[in-house]
Amino acid sequence: MTGLPILEIDKISKSYGAVKAVSDVSLHVNRGEIAGLIGPNGSGKSTFFDCSTGLQRPDTGTVKLDGQDITGWSLNRIAREGRMLRSFQKTVVFKALDVEENLIIAGQMFTFPSLLSTFGIGRMSKQRISGLRDRARELIKMAGLWDVRHQPAGNLSGGQQKLIQFASMLMPEPKIILLDEPMAGINPKIIERVIETILYANRSLGVSFLVIEHNIDVVTSICQRVVVLDQGKKLVEGLPHDIIADERVREAYLGG
Ligand SMILES: Nc1ncnc2c1ncn2[C@@H]1O[C@H](COP(=O)(O)OP(=O)(O)O)[C@@H](O)[C@H]1O
Ligand SMILES: [Mg+2]
Repeated sequence: MTGLPILEIDKISKSYGAVKAVSDVSLHVNRGEIAGLIGPNGSGKSTFFDCSTGLQRPDTGTVKLDGQDITGWSLNRIAREGRMLRSFQKTVVFKALDVEENLIIAGQMFTFPSLLSTFGIGRMSKQRISGLRDRARELIKMAGLWDVRHQPAGNLSGGQQKLIQFASMLMPEPKIILLDEPMAGINPKIIERVIETILYANRSLGVSFLVIEHNIDVVTSICQRVVVLDQGKKLVEGLPHDIIADERVREAYLGG
């Protein structure tokens, strides 16, 4: 444990043709922190995530994870070696597999060295599977999915599938997770569950978060610090309550 931020992004820029999606944005996430990223539609939030997690290569700027320069690494390498994961706005689960199987598969993706052992062939796999099952069950309870743990994921509601996806992300023991609008399109009861699960992952499992979120109540209840983007640039950064009250932020949202 050091005082260094877990994620340090320095002056990232990304253009798509004539569109400057992100201009010179720097941002850090402290170890153990839940930081928020907000801004009007089209302000560059998702592009900033794309450039931070290896989906897109930034035109300029650097990304450091846990002190290591990972600029230019692929999404997969960042997930496997860097243990930084991200969610997309679309929910993806294995619909034919039950809830518990979904989580166990997610855990195997990064912790197992070969495809053979993914299918349970090989030394120590029994022990590993049993460790993964214990972790899966703990997360399933936390996510409020215990009663449906043996049901195919495809039979469950959109909100429950979101919870499965989120719990699955916690299986490979990530250091940091970037969430892109995790509450979009889900009902208030599920929102409560997602919040509880994020807080549990943060406090009990030590996972840091950077969260893009439009629901300002969610932002103020989980984030310790908020960064605001407007037209691809960083507008302001500060405590959630100061950010909401900030005149520049109000103008960016209202003035478009
Ligand atoms: N893959 C892409 N190709 C071309 N333009 C893109 C692409 N991704 C984003 N953009 C453009 O970049 C700008 C920022 O978009 P985005 O990062 O999605 O914003 P946000 O997530 O804040 O809504 C927008 O003008 C958008 O149209
Ligand atoms: Mg977006």
